Amino acid sequence: MSSYKILLNITGSIACYKACELTSQLIQLGHEVQVVASNNALKFAGEATFEGLTGRRVLTETFKPGQMMAHIDLANWCDLSLIYPATANTINTLAFGGASNLIGSLYLALPQNTPLLIAPAMNTKMLTHHAVVKSLKSLGEQGVFILPTESGTLACGEIGEGKLLSPLITIKHILSFLKPKPLKKILITCGGTIEAIDGVRSITNFSSGNTANLIASEFIKHGHQVTLVKSVTAAITPPLKSKVVEFSNYESLQRVLRSELENTHYDGLIHAAAVSDFKVESLSIDNNTVEPDESVKLSSLNSSMSINLTRNPKLINLLKSYSKNKKLILCGFKLTQNLNNIEAKKKVDDLFKNSPADFVVHNDLNHINGPLHEFTVFNRNLNIVNTGTTKNDLSFSLLDIFNSTALEPNPLNEVNL
Ligand SMILES: Cc1cc2nc3c(=O)[nH]c(=O)nc-3n(C[C@H](O)[C@H](O)[C@H](O)COP(=O)(O)O)c2cc1C
Repeated sequence: MSSYKILLNITGSIACYKACELTSQLIQLGHEVQVVASNNALKFAGEATFEGLTGRRVLTETFKPGQMMAHIDLANWCDLSLIYPATANTINTLAFGGASNLIGSLYLALPQNTPLLIAPAMNTKMLTHHAVVKSLKSLGEQGVFILPTESGTLACGEIGEGKLLSPLITIKHILSFLKPKPLKKILITCGGTIEAIDGVRSITNFSSGNTANLIASEFIKHGHQVTLVKSVTAAITPPLKSKVVEFSNYESLQRVLRSELENTHYDGLIHAAAVSDFKVESLSIDNNTVEPDESVKLSSLNSSMSINLTRNPKLINLLKSYSKNKKLILCGFKLTQNLNNIEAKKKVDDLFKNSPADFVVHNDLNHINGPLHEFTVFNRNLNIVNTGTTKNDLSFSLLDIFNSTALEPNPLNEVNL
């Protein structure tokens, strides 16, 4: 396996002992590790341990004779930088660009294309505090990859979210950034359709487009090319490097997808848009039937109006037939509510039977709330490929699937635990 240069930043958490284990495993895998520790980190784990494991002096100070330029040199030296564990203090400091210690300076000096992973570790109340939530969101927007935390018994005795991710899973994330992999062209649909009733009124849905946008950012962070086919109403800021094409109603979404898939060789399509099952066929106003006309505003003084809807064909069934690349990997979504696992699996099975989807992400409406987003990804054999609880987990799962890591030998087998 290739050897990479990893900058391991450690901050003052009770979970610092896990950084010793992580360092040991990275070294065993043949990587070079340079440890940078905050002064507080060294109250939890000793310099001797890290120097012994890495064969390199631990760096702490910005102003140290002989290493005054470490904040620039190391930022340029590394293939990947990781903050493990990351305290609330460091997360908040980095979010606003604070550079009063070496870790802060290294963050600002890191080249744009060098990945930075942050592994938060703290008490649940700290993790869910507005300041920390805001800082993590801001760092995500700055291109930092925020690793999930684990749930369980915390050092303070409380049970909840906030445990530092295990060294084993962290290495899996690190390798996913470092492993040379073919870059892919991915098309992601995002947001909801709007079916016009007249020039000012419409039928739409509550899809925000946030999940699809997060997935798009994840793929872009990993160097893939992304086309985001987004609803004109989705109030999102698409990732900088994405190509954006907009749609409004079912027909325009179908037209855009057809044109993109026919003209460009896409490797994958993640169909996360909420597509209207119906469109307006005609209107019955005071017993007169009229065609929907987007150039006309209907009077608001009519005494009665009914809307006749007609079914749109299932778009997901058509997508592979449009595709220039006949090996396109298609991922669909199935949203249900109040179903038990067996009933939900049956719905997923129906979607596989009726569409050429290769993967289906199942969600339950009751388990989606802001960043929390419980999901299960199924393959065509109805095997569970991945599960998770947040939008971030979902983005990473889909990235993992499209990178086909599961098909490659698992590098973790080489770690001597
Ligand atoms: C025993 C102990 C455990 C701590 N564990 C954590 C922790 O897990 N996460 C955290 O954010 N802060 C924790 N702290 C508080 C940080 O050490 C403190 O905020 C410190 O200023 C962080 O500095 P640094 O970010 O520069 O390393 C802990 C403090 C003590 C005394």
